[in-house]
Amino acid sequence: MTLAAPTSAEALAVLPPGDLAARGVHVTKVYGQGNARVVALDMITLGIPKGAYTAVMGPSGSGKSTLMHCLAGLDSVTSGEVYIGDVALGRLSDKRLTRLRRDRVGFVFQMFNLVPTLTAAENITLPLDIAGVKPDRAWLDTVIDTIGLRDRLRHRPAELSGGQQQRVACARALATRPDIIFADEPTGNLDSRSSAEVLSFLRRSVREMGQTVVMVTHDPVAAGYADLVIFLNDGRIAGQLAEPTAQRVLDWLGQSAPADAAASDPPEPAPGRSAAGDSKGKTAGQ
Ligand SMILES: Nc1ncnc2c1ncn2[C@@H]1O[C@H](COP(=O)(O)OP(=O)(O)OP(=O)(O)O)[C@@H](O)[C@H]1O
Ligand SMILES: [Mg+2]
Repeated sequence: MTLAAPTSAEALAVLPPGDLAARGVHVTKVYGQGNARVVALDMITLGIPKGAYTAVMGPSGSGKSTLMHCLAGLDSVTSGEVYIGDVALGRLSDKRLTRLRRDRVGFVFQMFNLVPTLTAAENITLPLDIAGVKPDRAWLDTVIDTIGLRDRLRHRPAELSGGQQQRVACARALATRPDIIFADEPTGNLDSRSSAEVLSFLRRSVREMGQTVVMVTHDPVAAGYADLVIFLNDGRIAGQLAEPTAQRVLDWLGQSAPADAAASDPPEPAPGRSAAGDSKGKTAGQ
């Protein structure tokens, strides 16, 4: 498939659903009532391309975590619909939703969330053990080789660096071979060297293992690892950038003045940038 890289937030709806790992259609999420009412997501329509690395950026409070939780089925939407693949989450019973999350979604948190009493290896296979599923050894070997921690598998989290712990958490998210991995500021607690380890691993999981990753980040350098950046502002999509680099992300952020970021379009993609049969330049759509 060949797609011209869209140039505005309105052009997000370009990919057919079959090319999307997840999508939200007119998703609104409201917290609280009366004076405490907060519209965290305001009629967002977007898609997460399969086999691509998508970054989500935006100011604090712009709705990034809420979007991740809603797309992952960890939280319900107030109105609109979320799909994982072609399954509409709003129509699932709690039991089916739990099973879908377990089988098809991986989540990586800022605080690693490893079980301290288990070794790295045991942490990685925990989701499979809980599900009572026999590990796919070949897949696990690939994951473990890709995180580069084979010699640390018997260590407990406290004996690993932050970057190593987060790589174990990423491997745990990958263990079930999910359709999509959501990572909410996975490098938020890491120094730049450990961040690079984790970001490289996530990118390899996309490029070499065909995974789909969506990552929230505040860091233009981290966003530069992705294939696509989606910018949020005030619960809405403010724009997007295909084939980002740290500099292009900074330029975009600089050009979208804080007061009216939601109204401005991102700059034109670099000349000749389009998706031709790979994830590059593919973008979100309903
Ligand atoms: N459980 C909740 N109850 C009430 N309001 C909430 C709740 N969770 C989030 N919010 C509000 O919704 C809005 C979006 O929050 P969200 O956590 O999605 O932002 P974010 O973009 O992830 O911010 P950050 O970069 O600080 O993590 C904020 O105004 C926040 O205060
Ligand atoms: Mg957040």
